[in-house]
Amino acid sequence: MTDPTQIKKGLAGVVADYTAISKVNPETNSLLYRGYPVQELAATQPFEAVAYLLWNGELPDATQLAELRAAERANRALPDDVKAAIDLVPVDAHPMDEVRTALSLYGARDLAGIGSVLDASGTPAENLDRSIRLFAVLPAIVAYGQRRRRGEDLVEPREDLDYAANFLWMTFGEEADDVVVDAFNRSMILYAEHSFNASTFTARVVTSTLSDLYSAVVAAVGALKGPLHGGANEAVLHVFDEIGSADNVAPWLDEALASKRKIMGFGHRVYKRGDSRVPTMKAALDSLVAHYDRPDVAALYDALESEFVSRKGIYPNLDYPSGPAYQLIGFDTPTFTPLFVAARVTGWTAHIMEQLSANALIRPLSAYSGPDERHIDGYVPDTAAIDIAERP
Ligand code: SDX
Repeated sequence: MTDPTQIKKGLAGVVADYTAISKVNPETNSLLYRGYPVQELAATQPFEAVAYLLWNGELPDATQLAELRAAERANRALPDDVKAAIDLVPVDAHPMDEVRTALSLYGARDLAGIGSVLDASGTPAENLDRSIRLFAVLPAIVAYGQRRRRGEDLVEPREDLDYAANFLWMTFGEEADDVVVDAFNRSMILYAEHSFNASTFTARVVTSTLSDLYSAVVAAVGALKGPLHGGANEAVLHVFDEIGSADNVAPWLDEALASKRKIMGFGHRVYKRGDSRVPTMKAALDSLVAHYDRPDVAALYDALESEFVSRKGIYPNLDYPSGPAYQLIGFDTPTFTPLFVAARVTGWTAHIMEQLSANALIRPLSAYSGPDERHIDGYVPDTAAIDIAERP
């Protein structure tokens, strides 16, 4: 009988493998991407440069950044058949199902012609190219999804805008102010990577069977959709909508905690004294609150945080400031988690390539807790195929 202490439910505290991509350190409340503190990257880099860093291990020089920018801009447009696939998804389906459908078709068309499943996992060069193209096309998938739900037409990408500005252009059909582009760029960098979180580990499990990069990313999308993971940023806004205003926080929390509700945007499996990314995202939110003159958002944010932390000692995670920030920018709430996909696809694909570089099939053990071995009454071994009606 397995010793119950050997069971690590949710793999909590289990170190499953090495990664050189990022270091999440709850003791120092820090997050490093390839050794660089994430707050330094968010304050100084375009998201394109951070994507390069995650994939290649170093920040790009001017030539390397120019080459990545050219490849990203060349692959921004939404392919007609992928747009057609999105149009087949019911407009009231969850946008993450739209993203999953679009990526499934995108991958199927890209892998068409690769006959043997033995070639699915691809070479490092093929997977880097696939990673760049997913990074490039996801903004169009996410932007078109929101516009379709609003009854608006597709907006074609612009090659004169960088990644963040173009993402906002395709979503809203107008050029965003610099302060908005900067806040959005920071959010993409903060969401890009976070070691073996549930969706990234899902991608690694799929990759470990030598399946293809697109199958691993689509599986990761499914994991990220859940409200305990990526879906929390959308759920934070549902909480804000329920509460309404700062003066309703205390009574709302009384009821929520009495019914044992998980308050979305708070808590973390690894960080237990606050999420290292929150101060940087909160500063971005503050810049948007000032830009749009919305002190009511800040008041509700601060009231819920201080009340919940004082009562439960559980701190905000990245989803808490990012939700209201995306709402201020104009994204519809259901679009929030697809935004997370657009950012995290860089981390997922970096992990997929890392998994392949030193692969081992991921297959943990289980402790059996079912009935002891038992047998069918009247069973006669070696019986020729028997008529079901005659089965004992
Ligand atoms: C992300 O892993 C990553 O890195 C993820 C992520 C990334 O970048 O990839 O950081 C992104 O997913 C952030 C998390 C977003 N999810 C949420 O905001 C959903 C709400 N949070 C909780 O569900 C919870 O905090 C988790 C799931 C995030 C973490 O939970 P753990 O570590 O498994 O801890 P737990 O659920 O066992 O909670 C321990 C205790 C419990 O109380 P008891 O049952 O022991 O009395 O704390 C309570 C929980 O009920 N608790 C909460 C709470 N979070 C923990 N109670 C109310 N509201 C919460 N948010």
